Amino acid sequence: MPRAGLRHCPAGAGMLELPFLPFCALLGGLGAVCVAFVSAWCQRWRGGFAWDGSAQMFNWHPVLMVTGMVVLYGAAALVYRLPFSWSGPKFPWKVLHGALALVAFGLAVLGLVAVFSFHNAQGTPNMYSLHSWLGLATVLLFSCQWLAGFVSFLLPWAPAWLRALYKPVHVFFGSTILTLAMVSCVSGINEKLFFSLKNGTTAYSQLPSEAVFANTLGLLILLFGVLVLWALARPDWKRPEPDSVDAHQPLLSAER
Ligand code: HEM
Repeated sequence: MPRAGLRHCPAGAGMLELPFLPFCALLGGLGAVCVAFVSAWCQRWRGGFAWDGSAQMFNWHPVLMVTGMVVLYGAAALVYRLPFSWSGPKFPWKVLHGALALVAFGLAVLGLVAVFSFHNAQGTPNMYSLHSWLGLATVLLFSCQWLAGFVSFLLPWAPAWLRALYKPVHVFFGSTILTLAMVSCVSGINEKLFFSLKNGTTAYSQLPSEAVFANTLGLLILLFGVLVLWALARPDWKRPEPDSVDAHQPLLSAER
């Protein structure tokens, strides 16, 4: 059995050999930087936080969306890549995966409450922008994904054929939802900068420090998301499944 996290890819695949855990630590640091950046942007340039229908209430929206839909969701997606999750029963890791995704979803719902309440309190129309359509579609897709995953993988009476049928769909939509979340964040940041950097402030086109900071935040979010997608796609970081060449006996007997 090759060392956990350093499984060899098929000959000729040319895959860069990289241990998962240091990569994971780097990703955790990058996720924390994304959360710190979005919070600092809202605190330093957008007036801080409140929960009262004001512009400060809006500020919870970007912070909760980036934290939930990108950073926590990304962490949830990578649970099965942890080498120590490969041996022993899979069930606790399924629970961790589902629980992290549920917390991510809860933060996203709070983030939506913040922006809808702000709009309603200010008399601003809802759901007119491309960002809002894309964002809501992403969250709706996420809720369907979570429900379908819960029914198929966590409920004990779900038949094996249903799990086998649904798993590739779940994997595909997992990466798709993360991609859509990244695009939603970038479009939201861009929209907010266009709304805010005019009339009495330095124009966006003059690249004030706020724009440099928020543009950087957008790039950091993309970098984080792309690294998660890359980690998900690497065959040598995938949990060996019972029918794969890499599978080993203790895992087979522990699989539910
Ligand atoms: C996955 C992440 C995100 C999702 C799912 C999302 C979703 C939404 C939705 C559904 C609305 C419409 C609210 C309404 O019509 O009342 C909205 C509004 C808004 N969001 Fe986001 N958002 C995300 C991230 C962000 C980020 C990071 C920013 C950065 C500041 C942002 C900025 C805005 C702005 C300025 C509005 C108000 C204008 C509009 O309705 O387009 N969003 N968002």
